[in-house]
Amino acid sequence: MLDIAVMRDRLADHYDLAPNTELAEDLADLYAKMDRVVPPADWAIHAPYVAAINRLKREKNAVVLAHNYMTPEIYHGIADVVGDSLQLAIEATRTDADVIVQCGVHFMAETSKILSPGKTVLIPDTGAGCSLAESITAEGVAEMRAKYPGAPVVSYVNTTAEVKAASDICCTSSNAAQIVAAMDSDTVIMTPDKYLAQNVAREVPQKNVVWWDGACIVHERFTAEDIAAFRDWNPGTRVIAHPECPPAVVDASDYSGSTKGIIDYVSREKPQNAMLLTECSMASNIADALPEVDFVGPCNMCPYMKKITLEKVLWSLHTMSPEVDVDEQVAEKARGAVQRMIDLSRQLGI
Ligand code: 13P
Ligand code: SF4
Repeated sequence: MLDIAVMRDRLADHYDLAPNTELAEDLADLYAKMDRVVPPADWAIHAPYVAAINRLKREKNAVVLAHNYMTPEIYHGIADVVGDSLQLAIEATRTDADVIVQCGVHFMAETSKILSPGKTVLIPDTGAGCSLAESITAEGVAEMRAKYPGAPVVSYVNTTAEVKAASDICCTSSNAAQIVAAMDSDTVIMTPDKYLAQNVAREVPQKNVVWWDGACIVHERFTAEDIAAFRDWNPGTRVIAHPECPPAVVDASDYSGSTKGIIDYVSREKPQNAMLLTECSMASNIADALPEVDFVGPCNMCPYMKKITLEKVLWSLHTMSPEVDVDEQVAEKARGAVQRMIDLSRQLGI
């Protein structure tokens, strides 16, 4: 367990991390990407961390892969690559850095390690889990196979390496429907997200999609009733939902897609008001690039994603820990499932 007080003392021995307005001004180019959502006083607090992390990245030949749910100071300040789960997985196969710092949750870091076994993969907080990844084990996959003999198992990347290893192929929210449609079987097992599976089942009616009973604690909380009430108060608002939301929520929305899909949609459509039914940092990260869009309405925080902070990233690069390791036999099987997804996505032009 990371002792925050010890970490702070040790960091203070090596870096000047006091709020610094001069440094904040020196880093004005980075700040310009988030000044709509990060107050100047906060930027002065972040700037010394951003400068120290970017210096350490160069010294250690490290890249930061950051998910779209990271806070703006991580997303714009230190990330080399940002994206949804599919983009980050693909990038993990491409980078020639020696070290990957995964600013996201643990399954994403495991996926990077599975795809780049020769690299050092760091996760700044090992407690950055995921309710979906925690909802199923390899035994759960075996149970589903016993219930639906011969049906292929398509597992969401939001799973542990052991679950990926027990699956035939992975999917993300970017490619789930196309991957399920491409399976050579009438019945397809999807794990672990019941809502993603139910949303996919409607898009691929030719398949009998069956699912595990998992859910995302962030997206399951949105309701169709909330959307209806919000639309009454704010007519004309464009409602955009992640497919981890229940089908009734997706039905009540104008668009549903992965985090990359959502960014692309809002960037293309530029609605006057947009309500993003997903994690709160999504709107913050694109607010500066889209000054014509007002992001309105509720969003939910992912408590796991929010465990990743600049301070922990600095500590991680300073100590080169915690390192993510995956048993080689498990990794080999899991790599097959992830690589099949990447290859099929490429083939399908996703
Ligand atoms: P994306 O692949 O759409 O980025 O989703 C990952 C995730 O965890 C959403 O909750
Ligand atoms: Fe997992 Fe949901 Fe958090 Fe995504 S938002 S990491 S699915 S708990």
